[in-house]
Amino acid sequence: MTIVPVALGARSYDVRIEAGLLARAGEHLAPLAKGRRFVIVTDENLRPHLATLQAALGAGSEAIVLPPGEGTKSWAQLESLTDKLLDLGVERSDHVIALGGGVIGDLVGFATSILKRGCNFIQMPTTLLAQVDSSVGGKTAINSRAGKNLIGAFHQPALVLIDPQVLDTLPPRELRAGYAEVVKYGLIDDFAFFEWCEANAAALLAGDPAAREHAIAHSVSAKARIVAEDERETTGKRALLNLGHTFGHALEAETGFSSRLLHGEGVAAGMALAFGFSARKGLCPGQDAERVAAHLRAIGLPDGLAAAGVTASGARLVEHMLHDKKMAAGTLPFLLAHGIGKTYLDKTVDLTEVAAFLDARP
Ligand code: GLY
Repeated sequence: MTIVPVALGARSYDVRIEAGLLARAGEHLAPLAKGRRFVIVTDENLRPHLATLQAALGAGSEAIVLPPGEGTKSWAQLESLTDKLLDLGVERSDHVIALGGGVIGDLVGFATSILKRGCNFIQMPTTLLAQVDSSVGGKTAINSRAGKNLIGAFHQPALVLIDPQVLDTLPPRELRAGYAEVVKYGLIDDFAFFEWCEANAAALLAGDPAAREHAIAHSVSAKARIVAEDERETTGKRALLNLGHTFGHALEAETGFSSRLLHGEGVAAGMALAFGFSARKGLCPGQDAERVAAHLRAIGLPDGLAAAGVTASGARLVEHMLHDKKMAAGTLPFLLAHGIGKTYLDKTVDLTEVAAFLDARP
C-alpha cells in the first residue's frame, strides 16, 4: 500500500492507494466508525462497487444512490441529498462516504461542508480523474445557471481510499480523459515524470497494475505537495494545477459541457494549446510543444481545436474564457510554459493575441 499524507495542520489526512482496497475498506474505516454507521453516497452506475463496499463494512452502513451524470451537481440534488442525510440523522462526527467520480465527490464534499455547519466525509474515487485530481485537495462544488463549479467550498476529506482495480470497469474513453490529469503533473514541474508517462502511458491505459499504481501514487503525491503549500489557491502555486484548463474551458463551453468533449479531453487539448501558444510567443521551444502534442495524439487524446471538434472563431473562444471563474480584477491569468516541466502563471496575456493564435487553427 502507498500512503500519501496531505499535510494541512488540523485538517491533515492520508490518501491510501492499493489494488483491492474497496473490498478491504472495512479495516481502514472501522477506526473512524466510533460506534456509528457510515452513509455511502454513490450513483446508479456504481451499484456493483456499492455492493462490494457494503459487504466490506458489514451491517453498519446506509446507502443513498443518485442519478449518474453532471446534472447531479445541482441545487436540486444538493437539497435532496442534505435532506436525506438529515433524515438519516447524520451528525457532525459521522462520516459520509463519497463513492464515485468527480460528480459524486464534489456534491458530497459540498453537502458535508454545509450539513450542520460541516461534517466529516471520506473520498473513495472510482474514476482515474477523481483518483489523481478531484478527490484530493478539498475543492467541492455544484454547478449553477451561471456556470460550472461556481457554488462551492473548500472542505477537506478525512481520508481518501483509492482502489486502482475499480478502473478495470471504467470505459476506455473516460480512462484516457483521466490520464490527461496524470500527464499534467509532468508538464507542470516534473520533466522526469513526463518521460515516464511517454514510456508507460500505453501500459497504464491497458490496465497494467504496476504502471497504474505508480501513476496514481506519483500524481497524488504531486497534488498533496502543491495543496499543502497553497490550500486555497492564494499564492499562485495551486493555480499551476489549472494548466490547460482555461483553453480547455473554452472548448468545453463551445461543445456545451457535453459528452462531445469530456473534461479531461478539454484539458488535454487545452494543455497542447497552452504549449503551442507559449511556443508561438517564443517562450517555449517549439519542439517541446510538438512533443506534448505528439504524446497526447499517440494515446488518443485531442491535441488541438480540430481534434477536439471545435470550429469556433478565436474571438468566440476568448469570449467563453471571460466567463471562466479564474478571472480576477478584469484579467485572465494563463498557465504558460518555458518548456516541459516549466509551467508558470502569466497575468499579462493579451487576449487579442490568444484569439489570433486560435484563428490559426492550432
Ligand atoms: N483541480 C485543481 C485543484 O484541485 O486545484
